[in-house]
Amino acid sequence: MSELTADEIVDLCLRHTLYDWQQQGSTRPIAVASARGCEFFTVDGKRYLDFNSQLMGVNIGHADPRVAVAIAEQARVLPYISPFMATEVRAELGAKLAELMPGDLDKVFFTLGGAEANENAIRIAKATTGRQKILARYRSYHGATYATITLTGDPRRWANEPGMPGVVHVLDGYEARFLSPLKIEMLPGIDPALAARLRAAGAGRGDGTSVADRIDDLLRETGFGEDAWS
Ligand SMILES: Cc1ncc(COP(=O)(O)O)c(C=O)c1O
Repeated sequence: MSELTADEIVDLCLRHTLYDWQQQGSTRPIAVASARGCEFFTVDGKRYLDFNSQLMGVNIGHADPRVAVAIAEQARVLPYISPFMATEVRAELGAKLAELMPGDLDKVFFTLGGAEANENAIRIAKATTGRQKILARYRSYHGATYATITLTGDPRRWANEPGMPGVVHVLDGYEARFLSPLKIEMLPGIDPALAARLRAAGAGRGDGTSVADRIDDLLRETGFGEDAWS
């Protein structure tokens, strides 16, 4: 049972904390009290079916007793240790993930979230290949840090430009029927000549013609082809 009312919780949250992905002045979050399995419950007692596992992160279900016990036990024995140390849970989780990963992938780098994982993946890829350019889709969200918001294709990137150098946004290889002329125009920063050529190649006709195979040629001609990546 919350000591504060739903309105008090929401008002205090809005007054002293910033909200991701929202216009701060117009957002009105839901005051949540608890969650179990595939449902969560508001402070006012309303029940929601959580189709999205919140941010796709609670796939095992909310408040699974096995997870609650494991967290409590770890907090009692060793709640924090520097990442330079070796621990039994780290050893076991690393080995388990190596077992599940495809091919000869057998090493993981633990991070605290998606953006941080992407940041480290970029740095590892750059260090390994010696190359600088990164391809990212226009239809994408990759995180809210400086590098990952640059990778992000959707409009959340715009206010953060210019971002990290070396990022090149590309179209998805979708069927032409999904690429209406309007959507091509809306792709931020797309060269108008390239937009016109994509349309001419079949995008937006709605006849199901695939433009994916022709996009490669168009990108190569406009300087974004394979040879530009090295
Ligand atoms: C595809 C994708 N990549 C990266 C992120 C960023 O993850 P995080 O919010 O844990 O930094 C998200 C978050 O929604 C995501 O959906």
